[in-house]
Amino acid sequence: MFFKNNKITASVYGLGKVGLPLVAAWLRAGAKVIGVDIHPDLVEKLNRGVVSYPEEREVEDTIIKAVEAGNFTATTDGVQASRDSDVKIIIVPTKVDMETKQVDLTALQDAAKKISLGLKRGDMVIVESTVPPLTTEKIVKPILEKGSGLKAEKDFGLAYSPERVMVGHALKDIEENYPKVVGGVGERSTLVACKLYENIAKKGVIAVSNSTVAETAKVFEGIYRDVNIALANELSRLCSALGIDFMEVRKAANSQPYCHLHLPGIGVGGLCIPVYPYFALKVASEKGVELSLTRTGRLINEKAPVTAVETALNALKEVSPSLEPKKCAILGLAFRGNVADTRLSPTYDIIDELKMHGFEVKVHDPLIREDPVLESKNTPLLNDLRAVVRDVSLIILSTDHLTYKKHGLKTIVSDAPRPVVFLDGRNLFVEEDVPPGVYYISISGRRVKNV
Ligand SMILES: NC(=O)c1ccc[n+]([C@@H]2O[C@H](COP(=O)([O-])OP(=O)(O)OC[C@H]3O[C@@H](n4cnc5c(N)ncnc54)[C@H](O)[C@@H]3O)[C@@H](O)[C@H]2O)c1
Repeated sequence: MFFKNNKITASVYGLGKVGLPLVAAWLRAGAKVIGVDIHPDLVEKLNRGVVSYPEEREVEDTIIKAVEAGNFTATTDGVQASRDSDVKIIIVPTKVDMETKQVDLTALQDAAKKISLGLKRGDMVIVESTVPPLTTEKIVKPILEKGSGLKAEKDFGLAYSPERVMVGHALKDIEENYPKVVGGVGERSTLVACKLYENIAKKGVIAVSNSTVAETAKVFEGIYRDVNIALANELSRLCSALGIDFMEVRKAANSQPYCHLHLPGIGVGGLCIPVYPYFALKVASEKGVELSLTRTGRLINEKAPVTAVETALNALKEVSPSLEPKKCAILGLAFRGNVADTRLSPTYDIIDELKMHGFEVKVHDPLIREDPVLESKNTPLLNDLRAVVRDVSLIILSTDHLTYKKHGLKTIVSDAPRPVVFLDGRNLFVEEDVPPGVYYISISGRRVKNV
């Protein structure tokens, strides 16, 4: 381990959901770390040893100890951090405007510019944010070379290495769970980046030919999941029409080793899976390649919340032709279970669709206390599970929080009026859970009409 005893100083640009575990991983490998972020409040707190990463206590503990030991400092001065560090890692947000589908790399360009102004001979720059293929070569490299007057590969190293983590076990993902994919802009860059990551990733390093291969591998991981979820959603609808359960079909089909049917769901959220297909679609259109399957998968998944609401309203019509009362409780605001991250959550689309149909909507989430988007939609957010269902005719479970599974369907609906329609958007419950007075529909096509 050549950077034991703090011989290497790494700067990490972007101290968010991935940046903080990354800081912790480099610290645990023996590096000194400078954290860089544009938010002065966050930087000031970190320097006082106040670290908020509720999903992973180990991340918090590692950084707090490093602050005390003088091995971690945070700053908003990205240029000085670049001067003071040997390795610079970029893990800032990379986005897509969901209205226009335009890719937004401004944070990445900003971080690269600041790094360039402090870049020295012998330094190594590694991009870890997920990016459209060719970004390291065509966007980051020119910025670094222009600002520094140095040449990539000759004077400094430049590589791309994707982050493959899931918040909740991000530190373990970085250190233990997956090999690190690394591709440099040249052989020397790849070699140095591999040597560095061998100190961190216990599963080792997969060196690929260049940065574009590494970028594309990450984007394809996301597209694979998105398209397969879309396939599961589509086939679930067929199962529903056939009166059979997709989950049962899936279990049987997946017993053959070439079949890997994914899980259907009420929508795909977060800043990763819904975003990455647009990175590929951008470069594909620049290269004149049509990615019709990728595009269709995205369309199916973007429509999933609306499709689910249609299913729920049809069920409601069956039990109450006048659709009264037009009140719905949505269980779950986070885009996935057991996290408090609401970014691009399908719950927002469910709310909009229900409101278009004249529904009053309330949302419950056990982990989120306030949400500006819900406030802007005039939609109350409650933390009392029983109260939220008290006067509704429809309940839609949108997030597979463990709390819901623990409570069980009977307890969740115990204070709801009867009859009530329950749409299980995450397949959490089974037939035996359904109490009298409840019309239960799962996203996989199972129906239990106990009314
Ligand atoms: N969250 C995940 O589970 C996950 C998993 C794999 C990969 N990724 C990728 O990692 C990247 C970062 O995602 P995240 O979830 O950590 O984002 P995040 O929004 O949680 O954190 C990003 C941080 O970067 C800071 N920042 C913004 N602009 C900056 C700039 N110019 N200079 C320095 N700091 C800046 C923000 O203030 C914020 O603290 C994205 O490309 C994302 O696609 C995320």
